[in-house]
Amino acid sequence: MFAFNPTFEAPAGSPIRELFKYLAQPGMISFAGGYPASDLFDREGLDAAAARASQQPALCLQYGPTDGLAILKEELANLMTRRGTPCTPQDLLVTTGSQQGFDLLLRVMVAPGDVVLVEQPAYPATLQALKLQQADVVTVPVDQHGLDVAALAALLEAGTLRAAPKLLYTVPTFANPTGATLSLERRMALLELAARYRFLIVEDDPYGDLRFGGAALPSLLALSDQVPGSRDWVVHFSSLSKIVAPGLRVGWMVAHAEIVRRCVVAKQTVDLCSSSWTQAIAAEYLASGALERHLPRIVDAYAVKCRTLCDVLEAHLTQHVAFHRPAGGMFVWARLKARQNAADYLRVCIEHNVMFVPGVAFYKDNIDAAALRLSFAAPGVADIETGVLRMKLALERFSGALAG
Ligand SMILES: Cc1ncc(COP(=O)(O)O)c(C=O)c1O
Repeated sequence: MFAFNPTFEAPAGSPIRELFKYLAQPGMISFAGGYPASDLFDREGLDAAAARASQQPALCLQYGPTDGLAILKEELANLMTRRGTPCTPQDLLVTTGSQQGFDLLLRVMVAPGDVVLVEQPAYPATLQALKLQQADVVTVPVDQHGLDVAALAALLEAGTLRAAPKLLYTVPTFANPTGATLSLERRMALLELAARYRFLIVEDDPYGDLRFGGAALPSLLALSDQVPGSRDWVVHFSSLSKIVAPGLRVGWMVAHAEIVRRCVVAKQTVDLCSSSWTQAIAAEYLASGALERHLPRIVDAYAVKCRTLCDVLEAHLTQHVAFHRPAGGMFVWARLKARQNAADYLRVCIEHNVMFVPGVAFYKDNIDAAALRLSFAAPGVADIETGVLRMKLALERFSGALAG
């Protein structure tokens, strides 16, 4: 009946959000969403920050600058410096979640048909945004050390791409969905490729602070200072969603001034500015040092949850499921060893009141249908144990049904 823009004629919604309806099922244990644990939100710290923010109504209840409140930009630049990636407030654009930053970047950089490289498996919202932008998406495989940079080099060398790629999207630290972290050697090699072939690396880093094992690696943005000609080719996204609260919708991007300037113009037509209220709360929260005080609690809790999930998977499902233990983040990426279809298995799991995201959600092509993503962040430890036992029961039933 309506003459929709062709890209919205029959748009596929987010495959993960499609699963949300089952969350309301009584007693459901969900390993599905990328939700942080609600009981670990720093309510006290955020309440205190909100009380301080509300003392400045002309700032926090008013429209703000499109690039973000100056007090927040200052605090985010300080946070980046503490992370080993010094930047100035001028390098930074505050966005309504880092998801908006990616959308703005696509508007600014990618015309329909432009070649965009994406690690695969990938964060589904990235694939969705690229599809709506009508990009020509070319996938690059990932293994337990992150993006396969040698495969990327071979692809670029072969000269078979339809056009020079505009950008490459990757989550180099505790990736969604694989939990993998890109090794230092691969980080350096990736930066060299970006400088040589002149494509933007989109470094999406919402999980880097959630490290509970291993040594921290510098971000691609930080390392770009060591690789001649690469600094301008890195666009870095980060977010308070996983380390403070997604409800704030505070994310940010750090990029070359020419890119930031254009993203500011794009943002003007999207939402004028991100919420001044939550920006002011975030600024007060960061300025008080609350993040440094509270974050270890979250990281310690996730360490225990991740260990529990991996231990119970090993104890009960080791014959059936293969996985790697991540050193941080929120996800365990697993595979059904007998190569059963994880989406079919999920249907049986839902009947047993346990959920995960089937791997198919994270692929554009070459789908690994036996893969699945388990998030350990939101459920409690006892639920993680019960959830895996339910997965075991469901797998017995599912395998029996397949055999029968
Ligand atoms: C890899 C990745 N990037 C971006 C986002 C979106 O984060 P935000 O809440 O900052 O928009 C998520 C959320 O799950 C994510 O996993």
